[in-house]
Amino acid sequence: MKKMLLTGASGFLGWNICRWAGKGWEIYGTVFSHPIQIPGVKIVQVDLRDFREVKKIFDVVRPDAVVHTAAAANINFCQTHPKESHQINVDVSMDIAGLCADRSIACVFTSSDLVFDGQCAPYCEEDPVSPVNVYGEQKILAEEGMLKRYPDVIICRMSLMFGDPGPVASSFVQPMIAAMREARPLKLFVDEFRTPLSGRDAAAGIFLALKKAKGILHLGGRERISRYEIGVLLRDILGFTEKKAALISCRQRDVHMPAPRAADVSFDITKAQTLGFHPVSLPEALKDFTSFENRLPSATAETAIF
Ligand SMILES: NC(=O)c1ccc[n+]([C@@H]2O[C@H](COP(=O)([O-])OP(=O)(O)OC[C@H]3O[C@@H](n4cnc5c(N)ncnc54)[C@H](OP(=O)(O)O)[C@@H]3O)[C@@H](O)[C@H]2O)c1
Repeated sequence: MKKMLLTGASGFLGWNICRWAGKGWEIYGTVFSHPIQIPGVKIVQVDLRDFREVKKIFDVVRPDAVVHTAAAANINFCQTHPKESHQINVDVSMDIAGLCADRSIACVFTSSDLVFDGQCAPYCEEDPVSPVNVYGEQKILAEEGMLKRYPDVIICRMSLMFGDPGPVASSFVQPMIAAMREARPLKLFVDEFRTPLSGRDAAAGIFLALKKAKGILHLGGRERISRYEIGVLLRDILGFTEKKAALISCRQRDVHMPAPRAADVSFDITKAQTLGFHPVSLPEALKDFTSFENRLPSATAETAIF
């Protein structure tokens, strides 16, 4: 079995990668502030900002591949804490690329659709980047810095993801479902579009990228859809009435938040499809996960919308 060092195993994507890994990989998953246990995964607790500790882990584990998902992934946090988020999003990513280069091992970095400004969707891998917020800028710095240190790094740009969040993480649909179940009105953007991807398909895409991809790869879902339309779809799937689960349409300009938001960062996933990436349709993916969804973190005004 090959060894994988997976950073961010306690996070949404990391947990889904562990969950859907299947046989063939012995996974060493790093956690930081959430020291969870994951069946079949060897957990390593580390602050990835401590380079000496990270190097030690590389030396002890001797991974065949590294998948780097750990990040400060909240765009408003990055906007208000640019230095702190730069450390984990940029500096750590470049260190990891360097450690992989020294050992000539496979390295996948998870970037984001928010490297684009949202004015020219759908975006393919060759389109020029143009971030509108600090998080997007940091992802670009990480992409460029990692590729400079190690040209073999595979950059998987991820769309907005949803699904089973694991024991401590969350995705944007859990607060939506909680609000619907508790009959709280839910404000959702009608003018913000994404190509959402399930955690299961995201994990499949990462494993496919490890096997076949080179350079940059866009991993997104099949449908371009607004947040409001996702709410309607989810409400129908969960069987709530319009009265119980009231959806209120709003526009980006109606809500003030620290980080500017891109309107439409939908992906063109032709390159990934050519490699064999075939995410299920959004309704299918939502039905699949809501059928066993039972962990409901409480919603806040902000997470309920975004
Ligand atoms: N979620 C999305 O919709 C989305 C969309 C596009 C791109 N992405 C990208 O996909 C990747 C995964 O996102 P996610 O949603 O899974 O993020 P997440 O749920 O917020 O998880 C972040 C992970 O990073 C770890 N981490 C943070 N700081 C650390 C540090 N100093 N040392 C060690 N570990 C640290 C956290 O560990 P602890 O929790 O244990 O502290 C956690 O495991 C990120 O690169 C993100 O930018 C996500």
